[in-house]
Amino acid sequence: MSGSVSGLASELSAIARQAFAAEGLSESFGQVQASDRPDLAQFQCNGALAAAKSAKANPRAIAQKVADRLKANPIFAKVEIAGPGFINLDVADAALTERAAASGFDPKPNGKSVVIDFGGANVAKPMHVGHLRSSVIGDCLQRLFRANGWHVVSDVHLGDWGLQMGQLISEIGHRGIAPLYFDADFKGPYPEQSPVTMEDLEEIYPAASAACKADPARLEEARKATADLQAGRPGYRALWEHFFAVSKFGLEREWGSLGVHFDLWKGEASVEPLIAPMIADLKARGVTEVSEGALVVPVAQEGDKKEMPPLILIKSDGAVLYGTTDLATIVDRVKEQDPDLILYVVDQRQHLHFEQVFRVARKARINGKAELEHAGFGTMNGTDGKPFKTRAGGVMKLHDLIATMTAEAAKRMDEQGIAKDTGAEERAGIARKVGLGALKFADLSNFRLTDYIFDLERFTRFEGKTGPYLQYAAVRIQSILRRAGDEGHASAPPVVRSAEERALVLQLLALPEAMAAAENNRAPNVLCEYAFELAQKFSRFYSEHHILSESDEAVRASRIGLCETTLAALTKVLDILGIEVPERM
Ligand code: ARG
Repeated sequence: MSGSVSGLASELSAIARQAFAAEGLSESFGQVQASDRPDLAQFQCNGALAAAKSAKANPRAIAQKVADRLKANPIFAKVEIAGPGFINLDVADAALTERAAASGFDPKPNGKSVVIDFGGANVAKPMHVGHLRSSVIGDCLQRLFRANGWHVVSDVHLGDWGLQMGQLISEIGHRGIAPLYFDADFKGPYPEQSPVTMEDLEEIYPAASAACKADPARLEEARKATADLQAGRPGYRALWEHFFAVSKFGLEREWGSLGVHFDLWKGEASVEPLIAPMIADLKARGVTEVSEGALVVPVAQEGDKKEMPPLILIKSDGAVLYGTTDLATIVDRVKEQDPDLILYVVDQRQHLHFEQVFRVARKARINGKAELEHAGFGTMNGTDGKPFKTRAGGVMKLHDLIATMTAEAAKRMDEQGIAKDTGAEERAGIARKVGLGALKFADLSNFRLTDYIFDLERFTRFEGKTGPYLQYAAVRIQSILRRAGDEGHASAPPVVRSAEERALVLQLLALPEAMAAAENNRAPNVLCEYAFELAQKFSRFYSEHHILSESDEAVRASRIGLCETTLAALTKVLDILGIEVPERM
């Protein structure tokens, strides 16, 4: 397991591994996991079947020998053999009680580092839902990896060096908005004030791109401007600086309102100085070829099922492409962080691009010790099954989406009488948290590669597998604990006495495994599932037991303790999902 904290299943696995080893069998057969049939047992170990195969022995006989050893350990309340040789296990309540009190989650550093590349919005263009997904999933992964003890560096990798820059520049030239920047004789310095605002850019960019589509001469001009910019033409470079600053200001606000943070605000252009030396290096290593005037690296391999076109490093007009900057970015990251892993949280439709980039990097050995991995994701679709758009058919801007979610959350709260005793300002804050929680949970709860349909009504419900349901569950526990404090009740470490307490504590002790599984599969949905089950198990415990009204003081205190432990785990998981819990509702 890669997480730094180990859960109950890992502890049981260690015990079972020893039992297999003592029988002269490989320890690897000792894997213990939560049972598929919780009605029959809490945990199961299926290793005797595989062990029997490799030892050509009877599986039930092996299971029996291993089971006899396990029975000697007081951690187990039940060790049973089922079917052809499964070992079913229950843990003793005393052992659960002992561990429930001690379940904490301080991450111990695991000595490994990862660069997570996500966000990836483009300068001068509004963020679209693809960037939203990248931001929500990437942010969750950075929180998860940190919680599991990794050293994480997140990088937004803005799109700021491609043809769209040349398109903007040539459109601005045509409009005559800022002639100074096109005057080859001007020696600078250029004005500090940007000649265009973000709103201007949002209007200019689509116009520029339409002009290039309609007129090949305009496209040629934009290509030329791109190459000139990349070659360092001062006026273009100065304009570019303005585009970058203006966009960054807007993007920081948008990601800020989503609660998403990046350690690095680099972009494609930031690695420009590394490109020439990298190309020289690639040439020296003999991996490049000239094809139709362009410099390329062939990446096709034997056994490829699909066509693998070569990666283009430099086009015949001298411009560099997306793949070139991605490669130079690997050089930069290896130089700056020397990570064990670089994880790209980017739309699955870019999979071929990353495959090409990774192959070049490995072929030329520029990736240091870093493993390169694309963690792709599917699309958020509208009810028409196509990538989500506004009603007017345009791209949905992030702040509009947040506003929509917030308004729907507020409506739901009204309908359900939630947070009705709060003032207008607090209520607005709650609605915002709930709206964001609904949006993030809906996005994270599907496996990332699965496409899903944007369903405002379902996402914002307070019942079912939703963000608002979990936020509300956490708030309810908060309010129980607040009342316990007001009434002067003490808390004590949780004690397992009933079936509901047992189920809840088992779930609490499974958190490390859930975090490890989510990390291993880069799969936030595992945590969504975990949080939902935790909330449900709490709700069963809550409906079957008295807590504050319990007359036995010791029992009451331990149940309050169980509320505290549950709240800590739920809040922790929601925090990894990037979901905030309102103080009250
Ligand atoms: N800017 C790109 C886009 O909008 C995403 C960048 C992803 N990261 C990367 N290293 N290529 O599609």
